[in-house]
Amino acid sequence: MRDNSVKLQRLIEDLLDYQRALHAPASLEVSTVQLDTLVREVADAHRLAALAKAQRVDLDLAPVTVDADLEKLRSIIDNLLGNAIKFTPAAGTISIVTREAQGAVIIEVIDSGPGVPPVEREAVFDSFFRGRAKAGGRVEGSGLGLAIAREYVEAHGGRIALVAEGPGGHFRVTLPKRPALLVMAEAA
Ligand SMILES: Nc1ncnc2c1ncn2[C@@H]1O[C@H](COP(=O)(O)OP(=O)(O)OP(=O)(O)O)[C@@H](O)[C@H]1O
Ligand SMILES: [Mg+2]
Repeated sequence: MRDNSVKLQRLIEDLLDYQRALHAPASLEVSTVQLDTLVREVADAHRLAALAKAQRVDLDLAPVTVDADLEKLRSIIDNLLGNAIKFTPAAGTISIVTREAQGAVIIEVIDSGPGVPPVEREAVFDSFFRGRAKAGGRVEGSGLGLAIAREYVEAHGGRIALVAEGPGGHFRVTLPKRPALLVMAEAA
């Protein structure tokens, strides 16, 4: 009973987030974000969850800034790290790498878990998709995390991709250092 109501409440919250994400382009609150600081904050928020599974979270963060919506960017990183911790077995390793490349910033979240099987690679960003990967914890996800992350990334004119190299999970977010919308607004 209790599990079911927790599940239902999570689903409703996730749906509301998803609904909001679909309107993200119209409501970006862009400021200059210190990306390495933000990643450290998100990693800190997940510290206990990682500790509980004896997982190591390695950070390799270039000191870069990006013009972005701070809370949406936080939610993107939060979703990716949350997945990495959830789908990686105990004693695994997760690394987050940020760098700058040709007018863009790149965020990679890489884990030593089972990764996404080839047949599921097309579907992971679809709403409500949950694959075969086993997650720890009692309350299951809604399968909206990556769909929301994709909406947010695209609202910034960026891309999110599953990198199919290596055995584990590997997600890469590429964001323009300055979203085109903002550049256009200034030029007008
Ligand atoms: N790091 C990862 N390793 C292995 N599989 C993953 C990883 N990240 C995502 N997946 C797969 O992609 C599916 C979709 O991920 P998504 O974040 O959208 O949903 P969820 O985590 O199951 O639920 P929610 O995010 O709503 O709590 C997951 O159910 C899982 O099968
Ligand atoms: Mg998720």
